[in-house]
Amino acid sequence: MHFFAGVFCAVVFAAVSAFSQVAATPPMGWNSWNHFAEHVTDADVRSAADALVSTGMRDAGYVYVNVDDTWQGKRDAQGVLHPNERFPDMKALGDYIHSKGLKFGIYSSPGAQTCGRYEGSLGHEVQDAKMYAEWGIDFLKYDLCSFQDDMQKVRAEHPDDPNVANNLMIAAYRKMGDALKATGRPIVYSLCQYGVDQPWKWGPALGANLWRTTDDIDDSYGRMIAIGFSQAGLSKYAGPGHWNDPDMLEIGNGKMTEDEYRTHMSLWVILAAPLLAGNDLSKMSEADKSLLMNKDAIAIDQDSLGKQGDRLYESGDFDVWTKPLSGGRVAVGLFNRSWSVRDVSVDLAEIGFKSGASVRDVWQQKDLGHQSGVFARTLPKHGAALLIVGK
Ligand code: GAL
Repeated sequence: MHFFAGVFCAVVFAAVSAFSQVAATPPMGWNSWNHFAEHVTDADVRSAADALVSTGMRDAGYVYVNVDDTWQGKRDAQGVLHPNERFPDMKALGDYIHSKGLKFGIYSSPGAQTCGRYEGSLGHEVQDAKMYAEWGIDFLKYDLCSFQDDMQKVRAEHPDDPNVANNLMIAAYRKMGDALKATGRPIVYSLCQYGVDQPWKWGPALGANLWRTTDDIDDSYGRMIAIGFSQAGLSKYAGPGHWNDPDMLEIGNGKMTEDEYRTHMSLWVILAAPLLAGNDLSKMSEADKSLLMNKDAIAIDQDSLGKQGDRLYESGDFDVWTKPLSGGRVAVGLFNRSWSVRDVSVDLAEIGFKSGASVRDVWQQKDLGHQSGVFARTLPKHGAALLIVGK
């Protein structure tokens, strides 16, 4: 091969493999919204980065540090968007985050305004994407927000076309996807449009690496399980580089019990969900740490097979979910949704282990040896067990 052709091929290969590694497994990190909401500052984000390192979260896999809504200031005469007074220097913030071995995420909207009524990217997509790349951005959450007004308008103008508004939305998401790609920097592209019009069907084609499947989570057991258990049937749309996103974690925010947070983490890892902690990392209890940093739970979420789990069966107040893992193993989540202690069981033959298999209890961190037939567990109200079953 001619020398220059060889160099060209090597460069193209490096670029392609950098892109193919984007979100090869569900992204893990921290996002400012669930705890700090519109009050977030540069100092909060730096201390979250520090805490990711000092708590061991970074080494457990939580590497994205994502600033959500309300960092934006105003655009200048050239259309350049400046951060507001709470974020004096985004490039310096990115450098700080990167110096800790972490990645930097940011938030915008295809609309003129974000959900917090700050400046969105409408009409400035290419300019904003270039600026993100200059700041060293590694992750963009792109939230529909005021673009819903544009959709409403076009719907009213074309009452006979049922697809007109969704087509407009998809085009807007494609525009930013193309702008990010054109920067040449691998940036995880996260769609946030609340699961409207099945983004799992059209998201991957426009370069999305994840897409929210529902409206917002909050720190309550009712909302968390309504979202989590409604994910049944979506597993076929997830895979390396493209993931369903049932929203960020609430573990550590204080309004659920430890058993309820255990259900939250168990369900999210079975769903191969992005694991974006949403708590104040400087104030984590030992229980929060052991839920968020359980190595086996994280390994289930991040398994190289890249398969999302799904519901095996549901009966009254209990639910059994399974997720295929590499090496012919299966992760099993047993969930007690009732208000009292219950036995929840799974027939190991039904998940492919007719002559039994070895079972590991993830939360007890214990190998239970060879088990066969029906495996039962007594679970507290709103509790969960998580198992890894293998040959
Ligand atoms: C919502 C979004 C939340 C958060 C918030 C910020 O639309 O679902 O996750 O980003 O906007 O304003």
